[in-house]
Amino acid sequence: MDKRYDELYKKAQACGQEHILRLYPSLSEASKSKLLDQIEQLDFAALRELFHHTKQPSVSTDGISPMEAYDSEDYSEEERKQLTETGWDRLRQGKVAALVVAGGQGSRLGNEGPKGTYNIGLPSGKSLFQLQAERLLNLSRRAGRSIPWYIMTSPENHQETVRYFQASLYFGYAPDDIFFFRQNVLPALDSVGRVLLSAKDEIGLTPSGNGDVFASMKRSGALDDLKRRGVEWLFYYNVDNALIRVADPLFVGAAAHHNHPIATKVAEKAYPEEKVGILCLKDGRPAVVEYMDLPKELMYETDSSGHLTYGLGNLSIHLFRTDFIERHADTNIPYHAAHKAVKYIDDQGHPVQPASPNAFKFEKFIFDFFPLDERMTVLKIRREEEFAPIKNKEGKDSPATARRLVQDLYKRWLLEAGAAPSVLEGRDIEISPLVSYAGEGLTPEVLKALLDAQFN
Ligand code: UTP
Repeated sequence: MDKRYDELYKKAQACGQEHILRLYPSLSEASKSKLLDQIEQLDFAALRELFHHTKQPSVSTDGISPMEAYDSEDYSEEERKQLTETGWDRLRQGKVAALVVAGGQGSRLGNEGPKGTYNIGLPSGKSLFQLQAERLLNLSRRAGRSIPWYIMTSPENHQETVRYFQASLYFGYAPDDIFFFRQNVLPALDSVGRVLLSAKDEIGLTPSGNGDVFASMKRSGALDDLKRRGVEWLFYYNVDNALIRVADPLFVGAAAHHNHPIATKVAEKAYPEEKVGILCLKDGRPAVVEYMDLPKELMYETDSSGHLTYGLGNLSIHLFRTDFIERHADTNIPYHAAHKAVKYIDDQGHPVQPASPNAFKFEKFIFDFFPLDERMTVLKIRREEEFAPIKNKEGKDSPATARRLVQDLYKRWLLEAGAAPSVLEGRDIEISPLVSYAGEGLTPEVLKALLDAQFN
């Protein structure tokens, strides 16, 4: 056994993790060196600290109070016009970029491959990535300027994501304006805090959550790229929202107008028990409280107008000012532990697929950046226009519900544009985001061409 092995063995043993070297003698030279490289990267003390956190009591809601939001429906026509123009101004100046977090494992959906490549079953068969690319291209064309697009992948899905874009010729996007970067990862720990192996020569690493995005941007050079381009506002969104209005000019305008370092879109909760986090103040600072942490009495509480006191649902649609990202890329926000079923290699070298949770995964959440500033801009929007999440294979928040929401919205746009209800009845409708971003531009000629192309 060599010196490097001895040193790492001692280091692992001091923290009760020597089992990760149990299969070492049976490995090839290449595998031995691969495993030692990985072990070298592990911060055992930090892992112990992480495991310790799994024993902490659940999050307290002491000190929470409701938060104020601007309602996009309450803007006068003039206000809406001005804010939208402010947003367009920023887009024309190249001060806006988009960031999609696409490093998740999509375990609930259970789809093979990166979630962004998922086809939700629209007549065109467009994937989530294509819908997003086309919305960005629509805005870019009108702004006369390309919108840089940052795509966070995980080590697991990075290559496949990049290959997918290459094979799709980037959907017409300039490849130089797309920046792919891998997110950070860290080990999953079993029920007693031991690091798991995913292969005989490999530590089991899992993505460290969307809240690690700014650190990952810094490490990968994406943050430098953002600064080099002079971007002021970064539009953050989840890969799995089929109705996302990427880089929405109204939202950019509202954020720029109020100029707090963070802005977020929220939607009124559909019902009190809905499984979404809520925006509120905690000790006077912006915060998100997750649905399982909200006590029943607060969940059902209503204000004098009958609205839920804590009813501002978090949609994971945010804008961050670049100076905030730079200031906080290294700020330690907390890890959240989730007890999950994680595949592993046992001490005899056999693969195990547990049927029930056997390990803790650790993730940072993006909303833990919210309390770092005293104020943020909160814009309430209509969920049926902008939120169609795809989380589960079937039932709520599934491809089927997202497809329905997308098609219902297209139908409303067409009716508003003057299409006869009888023409649309019972038909699958689609409007390319290249034609209309948010229902605009559906002139009689466009409408006729669209309906002719789809129904004749
Ligand atoms: P979710 O929390 O819904 O997770 O992520 P998920 O991975 O998509 O699905 P499940 O929970 O395994 O079923 C919200 C967004 O954050 C991204 C996801 O890709 C999604 O866009 N995300 C999540 C990351 O980019 N990295 C992570 O480590 C976790």
